[in-house]
Amino acid sequence: MIDIQAVTKRYGPQTVVNGVTLTLPTGGVTAIVGPNGAGKSTLLSVMSRLMKADAGRVLVDGMDVAATPGDVLARRISVLRQDNALAARLTVADLVAFGRYPHSKGRLTAADREPIERAVGFLGLEAYRDRFLDELSGGQRQRAFVAMVLAQDTDAILLDEPLNNLDMRHAVAMMQIMRRAADDLGKTVVVVLHDINFAASYCDRIVAMREGAVVRDGTPDEIVTPEALRAIYDMEMQVVRIDERPVCVFWR
Ligand SMILES: Nc1ncnc2c1ncn2[C@@H]1O[C@H](COP(=O)(O)OP(=O)(O)O)[C@@H](O)[C@H]1O
Ligand SMILES: [Mg+2]
Repeated sequence: MIDIQAVTKRYGPQTVVNGVTLTLPTGGVTAIVGPNGAGKSTLLSVMSRLMKADAGRVLVDGMDVAATPGDVLARRISVLRQDNALAARLTVADLVAFGRYPHSKGRLTAADREPIERAVGFLGLEAYRDRFLDELSGGQRQRAFVAMVLAQDTDAILLDEPLNNLDMRHAVAMMQIMRRAADDLGKTVVVVLHDINFAASYCDRIVAMREGAVVRDGTPDEIVTPEALRAIYDMEMQVVRIDERPVCVFWR
């Protein structure tokens, strides 16, 4: 379980996350949505200890992330950042093996092989295993980074805009991977998404942020309504139902 308690983060005079309190129980897929600059990436960074909160705290399975040794935390929670600094001459296999670092401490054993192979297979990267990252398309590279995160084999997985660069088929496959991680492996998946229809189709819960605060939190049926979408995005959107699901139409 991830327990976010009154977390505030400032950059200079600007408060970008403002007293966010949120509980993410174990299991399920939660989408975080909201306009650019809402504070989504900053909140994920604080949750995963990449950044320190100015106030409040985050507990992962009862452990305060700011006070937990990095290697202990890295076996509980993994994160795909929005901007992955690209290590130039690294192969896909090397990158995915990096995900095992908290377990292997740099000495890969036979026990690390299985999660690495599973992650490579999950993301359909078998054919690219020995390619260097700078020899891949943006979408293939994005899948390699997600494979690295899956290989870390943590209970909680945070993904910041994992659908970036993916074509529709791979975007759907990525969401199905998240569903399987939650449904079959019992993982807690938290994913920042921009496509509200992907969020509604694949996620159990949608948390919407705006100007550093959580402005809506509920099921897809509760969030994908013209009223809630107006409150989140300041936009008029039509919602239709297809196969019992709310679908947002935003190209008028
Ligand atoms: N390192 C930084 N220094 C100063 N301001 C930042 C920094 N990173 C992000 N910000 C600002 O914080 C706000 C929230 O950013 P971010 O968390 O990346 O939002 P989101 O992921 O929702 O688009 C934005 O206004 C952004 O410009
Ligand atoms: Mg972001």
